[in-house]
Amino acid sequence: MRFLTFDIVESTNQEARRIAETGSLDTVWIRANEQTQGRGRRGRDWISAKGNLYCSGLYQHIGSSQSAALLSFVAALAVADVLETYIDRDAISLKWPNDVLINGKKTSGVLLEKGRTNNQDWIIIGIGINLVSSPARTEFPATHVLAHMADEDLMSPEPIMTGPDAALAVLARRFDYWRHILITQGFRPVRSEWLGRASRIPGPVRVRLTDEDFSGQALGLGENGELQVQLADGTIRDIHSGDVFFESR
Ligand code: BTN
Repeated sequence: MRFLTFDIVESTNQEARRIAETGSLDTVWIRANEQTQGRGRRGRDWISAKGNLYCSGLYQHIGSSQSAALLSFVAALAVADVLETYIDRDAISLKWPNDVLINGKKTSGVLLEKGRTNNQDWIIIGIGINLVSSPARTEFPATHVLAHMADEDLMSPEPIMTGPDAALAVLARRFDYWRHILITQGFRPVRSEWLGRASRIPGPVRVRLTDEDFSGQALGLGENGELQVQLADGTIRDIHSGDVFFESR
């Protein structure tokens, strides 16, 4: 595995795509200190101030395009593992499809992109983790790791918070760990680990799709990672892509 670091890029996903399109599909993780056009899910921007982790892993993808989407759960578990090295496990939870929350606030996001060059499929796993700052006035409330670290950890002779490079080293290893489980054992163990760390499943949610908005009870995760939501009339909808907001119970 290779690591490439840049000072400023438009988007690390864009850099990874450039490499993928040359046909070189050796695993590489790209990190930048800043992004000028950081991209979020569903066409949103990802504000990318210095100090946080902005990275993208480029992997050759073997398998169906459906199985590529499962890597977003792998990424969320890896991010949660990284956060656990800084703060209490109880404060960390997961929100469908791949957000990682600290005390209910968004701390990380994952953006998957896939493509094909010279008959080889590739996948880019773009990950942002708010380490030392988070944007204000976001649609879903945001926070960052530093705000939740215990005073004794911040004051210890060997500080735990050692910057985005160290965070990426842990992230890439944990990503490979969970990816290996997905490849060798299938989605089931990843799904059950994800569900074990998910917040508010079962629980009330509002779902926003491109052209529809509705409320229901999130019940669980299907075999392909879809969120199963039960509507008031009892029907169950499978959500494959969309935004989910928690509703008060
Ligand atoms: C989301 O909307 O939750 C996903 C955000 C993904 C942001 C990361 S930061 C590194 C990589 N490069 C990008 O442009 N986006 C992803």
